[in-house]
Amino acid sequence: MESCNFSTLVVLIGVLVLCTEMKAFSASGATNTYNTTKYTQFIQTSCNETTYPQLCVKSLSSYSNKIKANPQKLAYTALSLSLKSAKNTSSVVSKLSQQSNLKRNERAAIKDCVENISESIDELRQSVKEIKTLNATQLDYKMSNIMTWVSAALTDDDTCLEGLDEETVKGKIKDTVSKNVLNIAQMTSNALALVNSLNFTQLYSR
Ligand SMILES: *[C@@H]1O[C@H](CO)[C@@H](O)[C@H](O)[C@H]1NC(C)=O
Ligand SMILES: *[C@@H]1O[C@H](CO)[C@@H](O)[C@H](O)[C@H]1NC(C)=O
Ligand SMILES: *[C@@H]1O[C@H](CO)[C@@H](O)[C@H](O)[C@H]1NC(C)=O
Ligand SMILES: *[C@@H]1O[C@H](CO)[C@@H](O)[C@H](O)[C@H]1NC(C)=O
Ligand SMILES: *[C@@H]1O[C@H](CO)[C@@H](O)[C@H](O)[C@H]1NC(C)=O
Ligand SMILES: *[C@@H]1O[C@H](CO)[C@@H](O)[C@H](O)[C@H]1NC(C)=O
Repeated sequence: MESCNFSTLVVLIGVLVLCTEMKAFSASGATNTYNTTKYTQFIQTSCNETTYPQLCVKSLSSYSNKIKANPQKLAYTALSLSLKSAKNTSSVVSKLSQQSNLKRNERAAIKDCVENISESIDELRQSVKEIKTLNATQLDYKMSNIMTWVSAALTDDDTCLEGLDEETVKGKIKDTVSKNVLNIAQMTSNALALVNSLNFTQLYSR
């Protein structure tokens, strides 16, 4: 009799736990769907102000659950992705500069690109670090630093692209370098627009 009661109790508790879990699961599922839509819309609306909205949405969408509807996180993520992409491009272009079939002026132009990209990596790295910890303290000073670094990174990309044209680097190698550098330039330009559109009255109610 006693063991019967005990197992009945275990079954009952089991059913209760299962029910509670299912309820919690479906509730969080509904909230998540709602928020995911909201967060995706936030990215679309914000990206609408950038120069390359499609690239902006494409690169940031998979981070919507981290960004939520936070403009500072959005700008931070955009800068981080530019940095990541610049690092990748740097290694791609470095390898190309070592190819043996290059003419002297081509090799020089591509080496300049490697240097310019390396500068842009430093600048993006500093801006990522700064925006991550940005708060109401020294806001104007830090924002001005970020803008300066990101604009400089963009200039470095442009310098590389102009160098390729001037030194008449041709063929597949030019396509590969300019395709990659154009991509970081566009991502960086988007990130700059997102940084630029941060509304601090909203963020820190000064
Ligand atoms: C969904 O958003 C609401 C408010 O916008 C928030 O309170 C809630 O924690 C969010 N849910 C999830 C799972 O992020
Ligand atoms: C993007 O901006 C255009 C006008 O520039 C507007 O018509 C469109 O509705 C906007 N889209 C979003 C998702 O905000
Ligand atoms: C790095 O660049 C190469 C060449 O453009 C590309 O195929 C690859 O997907 C990139 N990797 C990352 C992590 O961006
Ligand atoms: C790009 O690199 C070349 C070679 O180091 C340099 O002469 C040029 O000033 C650089 N441009 C920028 C904007 O840093
Ligand atoms: C602002 O961030 C700095 C670090 O960058 C930190 O030392 C400071 O305590 C923060 N201030 C506020 C008000 O959160
Ligand atoms: C910034 O946000 C505040 C508060 O939400 C709003 O009143 C103001 O119009 C916004 N400024 C800009 C430039 O969007």
